[in-house]
Formats: sequence, structure tokens, C-alpha cells
Amino acid sequence: MTRIITVASHKGGTGKTCLSVTLAVEAARANGARVALLDLDPQRSACAWAELRSEAAPLVVPCRDGDLEHYLSEARVAGFDTVFIDTPSGGGKATDRAIASSDLVVIPVRPAFLDLEALQPTVTSLRSHGTRGLFVLAQVPARGQEEDAARRDLAARFPRIPVASVRLGHRKDFERALGLGLSATETRSKRSIAAAEGRLLWEAIRATCAGSAQARRSVSGVS
Ligand SMILES: Nc1ncnc2c1ncn2[C@@H]1O[C@H](COP(=O)(O)OP(=O)(O)O)[C@@H](O)[C@H]1O
Ligand SMILES: [Mg+2]
Repeated sequence: MTRIITVASHKGGTGKTCLSVTLAVEAARANGARVALLDLDPQRSACAWAELRSEAAPLVVPCRDGDLEHYLSEARVAGFDTVFIDTPSGGGKATDRAIASSDLVVIPVRPAFLDLEALQPTVTSLRSHGTRGLFVLAQVPARGQEEDAARRDLAARFPRIPVASVRLGHRKDFERALGLGLSATETRSKRSIAAAEGRLLWEAIRATCAGSAQARRSVSGVS
């Protein structure tokens, strides 16, 4: 079964594209895994990143709003394991449909007041479609109490949406990798903290998706 993971947040610059490419690279690393990344953002940041790459995987596809359902059904028919959808800031109908079609929506959140304030529309969309969400703290500063404060704030505001225990720090390695058409997990500094964060985050998300697929099968009596 093709699992669909949308990366969304209404706020701009939270790290959606950085997170999308990092997760897609990690997902594609598994033996024989077929992974696509649909770039739903008219800015085409993920496509610009893909143009710098020499590796074929993950497959990055520019996706106009009206083509979303078509590409998702093609990916299912072709037997892709995972499709990521990188979305534009500001939401919109296509992002809402991506959220409706997804098994999981990953929401990057910078631990700062205006970012926390901007989460409601994304959460409203998840809730209206009954799609699972996962907050990922991103661009966390190296020092300070921001991460703990943001975790408390998220738990108070949105108690039903978990916050990933793995977070992404604000690290030059993420930015440098993007400019090379790589993910931080692929650069020469593969042992960097950024690389470890990227790998661990995908492991956590993969486990979350596997757990929910198992739960769905047992609810429907398949296993
Ligand atoms: N964890 C991070 N550490 C440092 N810089 C980051 C990180 N994540 C994203 N960035 C940088 O922040 C900017 C916005 O990130 P981007 O992924 O384009 O956000 P979005 O897609 O949500 O608009 C980019 O310049 C990107 O290189
Ligand atoms: Mg983007």
C-alpha cells in the first residue's frame, strides 16, 4: 500500500521543503523503496533542489493543483511505497485535498510565538478530514528554553496531536545540503548532528505509519 505523507504549515519558512527532501531521501534509502515527492508549491523549491541532484531517487515531480489526485492514483497503481507532498505556505484548496488524501501530515513548527500562533488553520484542515498529524519542531536554536516552552505550548493548545521527540536544530548543514541538491543525511558530513536528526526523524515517522497501518488492518479484521 502506498503511504502518503504531506508536509504542511500555513506559515512560510518553517522548513517544509527542507523536511520534505530530508524525509524523502531517507525513505528512498531503504532497499528497493520507491519514493516520490510531489511539489505542490508553485515556487517549485523541491524541483529546484532536484535539478541539482545526480541521484534519480527520490522521484521529484512538479504537481499543479489540478493534477494531485491523478498523480496520487498513478503512484498507487505503480506501487510506490511512499509519496511525500511538499505544500505551499498559506494553505489553499490543493493543500487541503493533499491533507485529506494523506495517512499522515507532518507539520514543521519553529519554536517561536508567531509560528505557534499560525498553526490553527493547518490543524483545522487535519481535523476536518480526520487525518493524523505530527508536529516536528524545526530550526530549534542551539541554546535557550524555546524547545521546552514550545512543547508545553503545543501540548496545551493541541493535546491530541503528538509532537515528535526528534527535532531538527537550526543548523547550517541543512541549508548547505539544500544548495547542493542533497539532504543533510547525504553530505560529506554524514556524521553531523543534522544527519542524525534527519535519520532518526524518518525512523520515528516510519514507525508511526507502520503502527497506524497495523491498527487499520486489525480494525478491519484483515490481520
Ligand atoms: N533546520 C534548519 N536549519 C537551518 N536552516 C533551515 C532549516 N530548515 C530550513 N532552513 C532554511 O530556512 C529557509 C526556509 O526553509 P524552507 O524549507 O524553504 O521552508 P518552507 O518550505 O516552509 O517555506 C531556507 O532558506 C532553508 O534553507
Ligand atoms: Mg517550501
